[in-house]
Amino acid sequence: MTEKPFLYVVVCAAGVACDVSKLIARAQERGWDVGVIATPLALNGFFDAAAVEAQTGRRIRSAWRSPGDPRPFPAPDAVVVAPATFNTVNKWAAGIADTLALGTLCEATGLGVPVAVLPCVAGALAAHPAYRDSLTRLRGMGVRFGDPYEGGTERDGGRAEFGWERALDLLRPE
Ligand SMILES: Cc1cc2nc3c(=O)[nH]c(=O)nc-3n(C[C@H](O)[C@H](O)[C@H](O)COP(=O)(O)O)c2cc1C
Repeated sequence: MTEKPFLYVVVCAAGVACDVSKLIARAQERGWDVGVIATPLALNGFFDAAAVEAQTGRRIRSAWRSPGDPRPFPAPDAVVVAPATFNTVNKWAAGIADTLALGTLCEATGLGVPVAVLPCVAGALAAHPAYRDSLTRLRGMGVRFGDPYEGGTERDGGRAEFGWERALDLLRPE
């Protein structure tokens, strides 16, 4: 039996993370085995960790393993970052690896693994020049970005649809 390709889903601390199960379900339907890596803040209440662990059949990773421990996940065939925060995008572009999520992202492009990102960043933050520079730098490394998303206003009747499946579409070869 052929093993399924392994997808890392990196989850950051943005409000839409509460729906990350939608992305996992679509990825599994497309034949991916999924492991979730959450930033420490995302793991602190932004989504239902127990439900995600039941859905993937794997513990969520957020911290580095101890030196003597085996690698908890297989090597990735692809990486998706969804939702990606302003904070994580800027630190990733700067080469900062002070969370497992960031360390994984900093390494992924060097390994030649395709990486797709769905940012969830409010317009006021996205206007910061450091963010624009980060996008330029990461795109130059081959990272693929979905269209900007900043959520809907309460006046609109809530958030616009995040479109989780876009991340999987971005992984397809051009
Ligand atoms: C309820 C809530 C929702 C948030 N939503 C977003 C968001 O959509 N995008 C974003 O960039 N930051 C958002 N933040 C701020 C991030 O959580 C904060 O910048 C944090 O440092 C990100 O950490 P991480 O990148 O390690 O996950 C939100 C914070 C809270 C409390």
